[in-house]
Amino acid sequence: MKVSRVATAGLLVGLLVSASVSSLLPAAGSPAPAAGATSSDRPLRQLAGRELLVGTAVDHAAFTSDTTYRDRVGAEFSSITAENVMKWEVVEPERGRLDFSAADDLMAAAKRNGQQVRGHTLLWHNQLPAWLTQGVESGDIDAGELRGILRQHITDEVRHFRGRIYQWDVVNEVIDDNAQLRDTLWLRVLGPGYIADAFRWAHKADPKAKLFLNDYNVEGVNAKSDAYLALAKDLLAQGVPVHGFGAQGHYGVQFGFHSAAEVAGNLGRFEALGLETAITEVDVRMLMPPDTVKLQAQAQGYSVLLQGCLLARRCNSFTVWGFTDKYSWVPGFFEGQGAANLLDETFAAKPAYREMQAVLTLVGRR
Ligand code: G3I
Repeated sequence: MKVSRVATAGLLVGLLVSASVSSLLPAAGSPAPAAGATSSDRPLRQLAGRELLVGTAVDHAAFTSDTTYRDRVGAEFSSITAENVMKWEVVEPERGRLDFSAADDLMAAAKRNGQQVRGHTLLWHNQLPAWLTQGVESGDIDAGELRGILRQHITDEVRHFRGRIYQWDVVNEVIDDNAQLRDTLWLRVLGPGYIADAFRWAHKADPKAKLFLNDYNVEGVNAKSDAYLALAKDLLAQGVPVHGFGAQGHYGVQFGFHSAAEVAGNLGRFEALGLETAITEVDVRMLMPPDTVKLQAQAQGYSVLLQGCLLARRCNSFTVWGFTDKYSWVPGFFEGQGAANLLDETFAAKPAYREMQAVLTLVGRR
């Protein structure tokens, strides 16, 4: 799948020169061209072809209730990630009662749509079931029992999806923004060895799935991505089955962006260890209301991450964290911010969507 990356790199270097490639395409929202369609109305998955899996996080509630949303998920993307329904609080709401029904809906749809599925996430400090957090806080669940519970959870979930998940986010956000191991109940009760254990248990349950570290604010070279590089080296030295590094890519227009070369350079450090890489949760939020300048800047945010992935040798999936402003986690978490996605609330293309089409079109033309 990656033989052409050198050609891609050459092409994209040319791109880096041009402010934006989408200026090569008709303006956003313009009527679809007549027959003999140009790339501007070809879905991302088609434009990416075999070069790259292009994915989206899928909101299960929207997927089951909104046909426009559901149809667009199938048409546009070659990979999907469950936004919430593979998380522990959903798959084991009561101790020992497993519920994969919502996740299985998405798996069945992915099969129908010929899509790959990224698993998200086996171990995180958020969205844990109350029986677990309260059990630990009350002391009812001690370290030995917690380790057994974690092992059972990872084994149950990975086995349930065995052979149907190409990349698992085994651990999510285990390093904090001070580049230290994040202070969570996992670290406090089990010690730093919980990370290696999680990868070993996941690998045992599905030896074919690629097992990833995943976090935010690690798109470029900084203290946090340095800490991940050190962690990856340490795990690999212990013979722990780590196969990949995922950079989430939650950007804000008001904060500026890395360059594509910086992103590719950072991913390249992990690839030099023999790991695959992925961009796993891209969105580019802005201070509301949107305007043409912010929307154009937003397009650059998506573009540098996509080009950075394409410039890297082993970045094989690029996932957006939702694709329409109609369903987005951003307004609920960042007051006064939003409009973070490729399509607006009416599913109309924004400059960011056209920019992704343009970059993938040029890559596809090699
Ligand atoms: O399911 C309940 C529903 O029953 C209840 O009525 C509703 C009202 O409170 O809440 C629903 O749960 C919400 C859940 O999303 C499902 O929609 C939670 O409150 C809400 O906190 C949760 O937000 C998710 C967030 O992770 C939790 O931290 C976002 O949708 C999801 O996009 C976000 O995703 C994370 C990635 O997993 C990891 N990286 C960062 C990314 C963004 O925070």
